[in-house]
Amino acid sequence: MPEPIFGLPLEQLRERVSAKWRLYPDDIIPAWVAEMDCTIAEPVQDAIRRMLELGDTGYPLKDRYVEAFAAFADRHWDWAVEPDRAVLSPDVMMGILVVLLQVTDPGDVVVINDPVYPPFEHFPALIGRQVRRAAMTESGRLDLAGLEEAFAGAAAGGRRAAYLLCNPHNPTGVVHTEAELSEVARLADQHGVSVISDEIHGPLVYAEARFTPYLSLPGIERGFAVHSAAKTFSLAALKAGVVVAAPGDTGAFAGMAHGPNASLSGVYAHAAAWNHGDAWLVQLLTELDANRRLVVDRLAAQLPGVAVRMPEATYLMWLDCRALGLGEDPATFFRDRAKVALNSGPSFGPAGEGHARLNIATSPEILAEIIDRIAVASTFR
Ligand SMILES: Cc1ncc(COP(=O)(O)O)c(C=O)c1O
Repeated sequence: MPEPIFGLPLEQLRERVSAKWRLYPDDIIPAWVAEMDCTIAEPVQDAIRRMLELGDTGYPLKDRYVEAFAAFADRHWDWAVEPDRAVLSPDVMMGILVVLLQVTDPGDVVVINDPVYPPFEHFPALIGRQVRRAAMTESGRLDLAGLEEAFAGAAAGGRRAAYLLCNPHNPTGVVHTEAELSEVARLADQHGVSVISDEIHGPLVYAEARFTPYLSLPGIERGFAVHSAAKTFSLAALKAGVVVAAPGDTGAFAGMAHGPNASLSGVYAHAAAWNHGDAWLVQLLTELDANRRLVVDRLAAQLPGVAVRMPEATYLMWLDCRALGLGEDPATFFRDRAKVALNSGPSFGPAGEGHARLNIATSPEILAEIIDRIAVASTFR
C-alpha cells in the first residue's frame, strides 16, 4: 500500500502559510478555498528540485507545457490538442480574462451560471463587462432553455457576448454530458456567443462519469478551453495554465499571442504532473471517492437536514442546508458555532442562499471531525 496522499496531520498542515491555513485562527478547521491537504506528487517534487539545482529560474517557452498537456489530453480524453492554437497563461482566470478582452468589448455581456465559482462574476467586472446569470436546474445541471434566453439577451442588438462555462461545474460537482455540451455549442453558434470553457477540474472526475473537453465535440468550430494542473495536482503556488482555441477562432487567438505568460516554475511542475502524474491521480481519485462517500453517509446518519448530492467531479461538495433554518449563509453559523470554515453559498450567486461549499480534500480523520462538528452545532443550538 502506498502512503496516503491525505495523510498529513493537522499540526503539520497548520505550519502552512497558504490562504486556507492562515485566514482563520487555529480553533477553526478550514474546509473552504480549493486547496488540497495533500502531499505533492513525487515527479513534481523532483522537477522543482532539478529546476533549483540548475538555477533554471528564467522565463518559459510554451512548448514543454503544451506538449505535456496535449499528451495528457490525448491519453485521458482522446482529445487531440493542436499546439499551434494553444498559448500559455499565468493561471486559468488570467487566461479567461485574456480571451474576454479579445471576444467582447467594454459594456458587453458575459453569461455565467447561478450558482458558479465567484470569480466568474468578479473578473468580467474588472474589465467593464456586464454579467448576466443563467439559473441551473434543481439538480445542479445546465438549464439549456434558461441558457438560450440568457444568450439571446446578451447578444441582443448584435453586441458581442461570451459565456463562461464551468466544465465540470464548481460548486455542484456536475459533469456536463456530451449531449448537453453539444446543445450549448449549437445555442452559442445560433446567437453568436463565444464560449470559454474553464476545464480546470477536468481530470478530477469519478469513475461513473466521463469528462468531455468542450473542444473535443465533433465538428466544433468556435470556442476556447482553459486548463491548468493547479487544481488536480494542488499546484496553485506554481503558476501556469494553457488556453486553447477552436479552429474558427484563430483571429481572436492571434490577439492573445503576447499576453501574460506562465512562470517557469509552473511549467516545470505542471509538465511533470501531466507527464508523470497518472499513478498519483488514480490514488487521489480513490481517496477522494472514499471521502465523498464518508460525507454523504455521515451526514445522512447525523444531520439528514442537509441535502447533499454525490459529486461526479471535483473535491468540492455543495451542501443544501435550507431545511436546517440557518439563514441565508449557513457558513457563518458553521464558522462561529461549529468552528469549521466552509465557503459561503451566496458568494456563488443568489441560488447559493442557504447553501455552503465543503472542501473534502483532506484526511478522512479531519473530514469526519468537520462533519461531527457541523452535526453537533446544528443539532444542539
Ligand atoms: C472553476 C475554477 N476556475 C479557476 C480556478 C482558479 O484557477 P487559477 O488559480 O488557475 O486561476 C478555480 C479554483 O478553485 C476554479 O474552481
